[in-house]
Amino acid sequence: MEEKIRVLISEEDVNKKISEVASQISRDYEGRQVHLICILKGGVFFTCELAKRLTVPVSLDFMSVSSYGAGTKSSGVVKIIKDLDEPLEGKHVVIVEDIIDSGRTLSYLLEILEKRGPKDIRLCTLLDKPERRVKKQVKVDYTCFTIPDEFVVGYGLDYDQRYRNLPYIGVVEQNS
Ligand code: IMP
Ligand code: MG
Repeated sequence: MEEKIRVLISEEDVNKKISEVASQISRDYEGRQVHLICILKGGVFFTCELAKRLTVPVSLDFMSVSSYGAGTKSSGVVKIIKDLDEPLEGKHVVIVEDIIDSGRTLSYLLEILEKRGPKDIRLCTLLDKPERRVKKQVKVDYTCFTIPDEFVVGYGLDYDQRYRNLPYIGVVEQNS
């Protein structure tokens, strides 16, 4: 079987939208410093592109989490693979994610990061699949694209660790 990628959101559209969201964040945080927390690995491309376009002072940290559970379903139990290097006390934190699906990963992350004393925490995601949400209380502050319930790759998102490097968002299709 051969895999093909159907383009869902072009490189041009992704980049344009990231610029718009970056402008909005820059306006919202005028006069303050933003502490971006990139959720590895999927959030890395989006975080870089977003950070480059912010006009307010930026600091960056990285966290790697994995949800226990098989296949493409996350279980809600999140394991920290790599924790942050810096404390969050007094910081204006923005968590940067590739995609929010069930919302379980972010719901858990918010719970543990809020205990570390940041001034405030906001969520920023490249993609949102609201149809799949289980944790309805997770409020997303900045969303680039709302997409239907399809498994997507590219711009950091993987299928079995592949396709993260695609400069656009696509859907994997199996051609027999
Ligand atoms: P959640 O905890 O269900 O919200 O899961 C979020 C995580 O699942 C994301 O950070 C991705 O790593 C992964 N994920 C969810 N949907 C997709 C998809 O369509 N493509 C690739 N990864 C996905
Ligand atoms: Mg992820």
